[in-house]
Amino acid sequence: MQRVELDRIIREVGEYYEQDSTKLAPAEGFHAASSYANGDWAAKERRMLRRVPIIVGHSSKLKEPGSFFTDDTTGVPLIVVRQNDGSLRALVNVCRHRGARVCAEAEGTRRVFVCPYHAWSFRSDGSLLKIPRPEAFPNLDAKDYGLTEVPVEERHGFIWVLPTPGATIDVAAHLGALDAEIASYGASEMVLEREAILTENMNWKFVIDGFLEVYHFASLHAKSISPYFHGRYSPYDAYGRNGRLIGVRRSFDAVRESGTDGIETAELTKNFAFNYVIFPNTVLVWQADHFECWTSFPGETPDKCVVRVQSITPKSMAGPQFTSRWDKNWKILIGTVVSEDWAVSKSIQQSIHAATNDTIVFGRNEIGLQHFHGEIRKEVERATN
Ligand code: FES
Ligand SMILES: [Fe+2]
Repeated sequence: MQRVELDRIIREVGEYYEQDSTKLAPAEGFHAASSYANGDWAAKERRMLRRVPIIVGHSSKLKEPGSFFTDDTTGVPLIVVRQNDGSLRALVNVCRHRGARVCAEAEGTRRVFVCPYHAWSFRSDGSLLKIPRPEAFPNLDAKDYGLTEVPVEERHGFIWVLPTPGATIDVAAHLGALDAEIASYGASEMVLEREAILTENMNWKFVIDGFLEVYHFASLHAKSISPYFHGRYSPYDAYGRNGRLIGVRRSFDAVRESGTDGIETAELTKNFAFNYVIFPNTVLVWQADHFECWTSFPGETPDKCVVRVQSITPKSMAGPQFTSRWDKNWKILIGTVVSEDWAVSKSIQQSIHAATNDTIVFGRNEIGLQHFHGEIRKEVERATN
């Protein structure tokens, strides 16, 4: 975080304290509830998700040549594997013979992947190594039968894929102005502390919604995080399709009284939570000294989703002496989001199916939701026209 930007944020937050307000949209926004439940719309969203860079894991998971993990979250089964030169490849986990899944393991280290069906084998760069009984395939050129690749890039410590063969990936362009801000925390030097994959009975967008307004803090989170965070005073800024919502901790009250002179930038940022919404399906939260990353994927039906949660910490805070600290942090994180936010989201999902309410309303104080859902709609329409 640049000091000049932090000072600007602090001035803005100060104005909201004086007005007893928060960042406001010009008017309420009305939104079709069917975007959470309609199968045709969900299919269009899934197509849209194949056209943008998506986080599938953390770079620190793949340490040495041959280290790999498999991933199905994007809807395209992938093997992401570290190469001899240190780069990554994202190989489609579908055999070029008759389509069996080549690798069934979640992770490991391999130089060769052997398909279980007829034992075609592929090198870790995806090229075809060997066909048993090659005389049965006299007209087949091995170089045309490597595993299909999709574009992959490592940036800010994350592994991003664009799950369409032949497409071009450019994560910096995708992040725009947020690229430098995320880098400023030292993200690329951090490590994965822990990760979970959660399958939930709700639409994937609810995961993002939960991080886009603080209006619900005083009621829904009265006993969990409301004692630590204000339910207003929050700046929201749009950066193209991405956005940033800032949660203001109650600790900032004292800082505001005493003034910020002489307080270092890193120390000052601890008074806020920075929620970066990275279009379309990730929220990266800077929480004082570490990142939490939520990436949400549509499930098979509009009322299901798969969520990857990652806790990312500086190397200096990794290791067994920090385990109890991160255990506690994880418990609060999952406790608040899963037990409180998602419990409500699942109840909304059920009532949306009852179709009693075809429109939902985003208030002026829910400007982040207005922006996010507007951008999803625009991109889905652009991608499917
Ligand atoms: S499907 Fe993979 S070897 Fe036949
Ligand atoms: Fe919440």
